[in-house]
Amino acid sequence: MQPSDMKGKVALVTGAARGLGRATALRLARAGADLALVDRDEAPLAETALLAEAQGVRALALPLDLAEGSHCSLAVARTLETFGRLDALCNVAAMLGAGRTEELDDETIDRVLAVNLAAPLKLIRSAMPHLIRAGGAVVNVTSCAAFQGQAYLAAYSAAKAGLTHLTRSLAMEYIKTPVRINALAPGGMRTALAAGFAELRDPDPELLARIQPLRGVVEVEAVAEVVAFLASDAAQGFHGACINLDNGVTAG
Ligand SMILES: NC(=O)c1ccc[n+]([C@@H]2O[C@H](COP(=O)([O-])OP(=O)(O)OC[C@H]3O[C@@H](n4cnc5c(N)ncnc54)[C@H](O)[C@@H]3O)[C@@H](O)[C@H]2O)c1
Repeated sequence: MQPSDMKGKVALVTGAARGLGRATALRLARAGADLALVDRDEAPLAETALLAEAQGVRALALPLDLAEGSHCSLAVARTLETFGRLDALCNVAAMLGAGRTEELDDETIDRVLAVNLAAPLKLIRSAMPHLIRAGGAVVNVTSCAAFQGQAYLAAYSAAKAGLTHLTRSLAMEYIKTPVRINALAPGGMRTALAAGFAELRDPDPELLARIQPLRGVVEVEAVAEVVAFLASDAAQGFHGACINLDNGVTAG
């Protein structure tokens, strides 16, 4: 699964400051796409933009907080102002909000649902007319947590399951347009996100063991390759798919 040539195309990637978002941005840059890059973390986001530009493409860094609804439409508007088109939207940003459910505060629950579920929907809503015009693609990064109950991740898992179903519903709604809408569900990757578990006080090791990837994590670059593939014209025929890329986590 390799992306096709994306020269002359524009991709908007969220969560681009680090981890899978950065790897996706750099893979798309290598394929020739100009980039609009969103993250709330300004300095590492600017670094991703510089790394992308070093590959010979244009990169616009948009330091925004996707938990703010208005920032989602702003991200799309700034992309259009700068590049005049949008061919691919990669919803990669996420927050974990790990914790015992009875100890979660309202702010954490609201932010996890906002960043992981509402923001992708709001970005897709704003991007859709431009994606239809370009015959483009949406890639929603979900998680193996969408398919299995995971202790200490109630809000995150529910949001990821919601994002998976959102992908299928939108695939039906837009099936008569040229836009392709797909989801990719990674298992464990070695990124800052997983460090969120470290904040748990006295977690039950048996419950944690159930979500360990027995065959180990998948490298972010390998996952980014598939995100970029789904974002490109090479993925003709993929529509409403949710691809598991989890080294067997959801197999049993
Ligand atoms: N790391 C894993 O083990 C794993 C497993 C399954 C799925 N995933 C999914 O992969 C994707 C990438 O995760 P990652 O592991 O690279 O995580 P990461 O923490 O390394 O990167 C996530 C990025 O999202 C950004 N972000 C968070 N909240 C934001 C907000 N309100 N506004 C703007 N940006 C915001 C962060 O600043 C960060 O740069 C996520 O969708 C995640 O749910 C990760």
